[in-house]
Amino acid sequence: MLILAPMQGLTELIFRKVFSRCYPGAFDMSISPFLSLTHGNLRDAGRKIEDVLPELNTGSMPVVPQLLGHEVDGFIALSNRLFDLGYGEVNWNMGCPMRRVAGKHRGSGILPYPDEVREILDTVVPAIRPALSVKVRLGYRSPDEIDRIIPILNDFPLKSVTVHPRIGKQMYSGTPDLDRFAEILPQIIHPVIYNGDVNSVYDYRKIRTLFPTVKDVMIGRGALYNPLLPTIIKRQCGEDFPGCGLSPVGEPMPPGSFVETLTDEIIGCDISTEAKIRKIKEYWCLLSKSLHGSEEWKRRLLHSDDLAAIKNLIREMTK
Ligand SMILES: Cc1cc2nc3c(=O)[nH]c(=O)nc-3n(C[C@H](O)[C@H](O)[C@H](O)COP(=O)(O)O)c2cc1C
Repeated sequence: MLILAPMQGLTELIFRKVFSRCYPGAFDMSISPFLSLTHGNLRDAGRKIEDVLPELNTGSMPVVPQLLGHEVDGFIALSNRLFDLGYGEVNWNMGCPMRRVAGKHRGSGILPYPDEVREILDTVVPAIRPALSVKVRLGYRSPDEIDRIIPILNDFPLKSVTVHPRIGKQMYSGTPDLDRFAEILPQIIHPVIYNGDVNSVYDYRKIRTLFPTVKDVMIGRGALYNPLLPTIIKRQCGEDFPGCGLSPVGEPMPPGSFVETLTDEIIGCDISTEAKIRKIKEYWCLLSKSLHGSEEWKRRLLHSDDLAAIKNLIREMTK
């Protein structure tokens, strides 16, 4: 399976829907950007829960909602509410590297504290109705922290463990530590999903060749640098997936048309003009990589705060 990674502010509902429409079947599923448990109540998650409301997700790829935090009451309540909405699985974020999150033992910040992990899972797992999967890094400060986490994860009936083989302190710098990944892989009894820096067919083949037991790969930034990536991987690696991201006429949509469609959807959103411009620019900084946009063109886009001018710039690039 190819899985779209959760990316706060990027792989949200609008992106997932446009992606599924333009490249049907390219991704088999996605994990949603996290819903925070910070205040341990549903009201706080309410604004973001729209992102995974089934009635709004029609026509999109299947999504597993992700939760971030260690507040067990909120964890249980939100998981069970998501189950009532139709979700058979929720994912626990044990990988977020942001200092203000990790500093409070949330995301990857919980990895140095195996006792806390066990206590949370002891309380949450028997109390929630959906299955649980987790997404982890190798540690927060050290790539050895995972060694004390794996035996705990193995004690619970998890659906899968997604591993992004960096440590939290690294954020996204350096490269994924594939040697460490190779060491821990045989220790994990659950299905393992690989995630990190798969930005080309070569990267995908390398992971599948080095780790033949890993069947599922999660792709984040690579799909924004080049939205054709999952389609190309499925076509070139000869994997027999239905759909494979082809349009009904049998050819994949050029990235430029995808980007224009996404831009039009954002313009049609019920948000302020400033928010639309911010969002378009966020996407474009990444997506323009697949469009050979010049540095001058990018500068003009980033400095423009007029929606019509931005649309023209985008048309200029994609025509
Ligand atoms: C802007 C941004 C937002 C992210 N938000 C989340 C998130 O909400 N939950 C999560 O588990 N990981 C999040 N991540 C991490 C990605 O899911 C993924 O682990 C990371 O980007 C590495 O994979 P990649 O090299 O394929 O992008 C985020 C990453 C980025 C760059």
